[in-house]
Amino acid sequence: MPTRMKGIILAGGAGTRLYPLTLVASKQLQPIYDKPMIYYPLTTLIENGVREICLISTPQDLPRYQRLFGGGDRWGLRFDYREQARPEGIAQAFQIADTFIGQDSATLILGDNVFYGSEKLKQTFDAFQTGASVFGYHVNDPRRYGVVEFDETGAAISIEEKPVRPRSNYAVPGLYLFDGQVVGIARNLKPSARGELEITDLITEYLNRGQLRVAKLERGFAWLDAGTSTSLHEASAYIQTIEKRQGIKIGCPEEAAYRRGFIDLAGLAKLATAMPRCEYRDYLEMVIAEGQAKTPPAAR
Ligand code: DAU
Repeated sequence: MPTRMKGIILAGGAGTRLYPLTLVASKQLQPIYDKPMIYYPLTTLIENGVREICLISTPQDLPRYQRLFGGGDRWGLRFDYREQARPEGIAQAFQIADTFIGQDSATLILGDNVFYGSEKLKQTFDAFQTGASVFGYHVNDPRRYGVVEFDETGAAISIEEKPVRPRSNYAVPGLYLFDGQVVGIARNLKPSARGELEITDLITEYLNRGQLRVAKLERGFAWLDAGTSTSLHEASAYIQTIEKRQGIKIGCPEEAAYRRGFIDLAGLAKLATAMPRCEYRDYLEMVIAEGQAKTPPAAR
């Protein structure tokens, strides 16, 4: 991975599909089982070593995220906040975050996408240097997504947004890695027929430049999007099942920050102590106790 990979979490949108839930709080603040939705994509960024993060949301919701995360230093992160006045497309994020990104590489993750259990993600982040990297995930109904087509050698040859007749079953999940060309490319995009700056058009530009890689995600790896009431419920049920079975938490940014070395055990203990007595705190205290058992007292 380049020394500076900036992260963007896109957490805006109209939230119409979850109405009336979104009357109370924006979609990405709704719970997936035991924590706010946004914790999951945030954790994915942290797990992959990204610590400078720009959160983009609507003018109404942005202050809520600012209250939730602040500057990010207690998690060893740096947060920047930007408004998206209207939901004019995912690729618009790169225009909005242009000065945050500068000349650096940037990864964008959608605030309603949950990733769990992939070595491929990690390998892709670690290996990333230039061009663009996106993922392909086999789904039952690709028409709801961006769809990638491969040739017989496995190379990507087209990406289409919500095609009526999909050319493959491989959807492109909402996690994208781009090099420093991204802001310039995003600036030149034109709105699609539905009036949005499409992420698929941005990816296609990298494809046309011969600089796109698509990594197929493993079978058994979980990618969930929680954009509708049904998928929100299913995502909650999935997370609950795994967490109960394994005694771990998925999407726990404090733990991820500790494991990635962004904070030390003392920093993690400070975070836990500031929480009310609850299951989440009990879990972090378990992680701390495990860490202490492994660390000689002098090094704590
Ligand atoms: O989930 C993966 C899919 O996400 C990709 O396969 C598609 O290529 C991509 O276009 C996108 O499709 P969706 O139909 O899920 O996009 P949606 O408009 O629902 O937006 C996804 C999230 O991004 C949603 O949580 C709201 C947020 N968003 C979206 C737009 C268009 C924004 O914050 N601002 C926006 O302008």
